[in-house]
Amino acid sequence: MLDKPARGKTCEAVQGLVQESKDLMQDFTDFEAFDAAVIAAQQSVEHDEISRYGTLRTWAAHLGMKKAVKLLVQTLQEEKKTYEV
Ligand SMILES: [Fe+2]
Repeated sequence: MLDKPARGKTCEAVQGLVQESKDLMQDFTDFEAFDAAVIAAQQSVEHDEISRYGTLRTWAAHLGMKKAVKLLVQTLQEEKKTYEV
């Protein structure tokens, strides 16, 4: 859409959330609250994604990038739906 190649960049914040998830699963392995711990950890990741997609949607809107806004709104809705499960 931007006529530029897609690039990836490691996000230390997300890596931290993933590590926290792994630590929680290990800490709760033998506890009935294991599922609750996994859900809490996953919600942290989804919350981060909601923040990022929301920001990108706003930036795209300010730049008049209507196609990007439409895609980012769709993705944002998907992330919010996953967060609420
Ligand atoms: Fe997600």
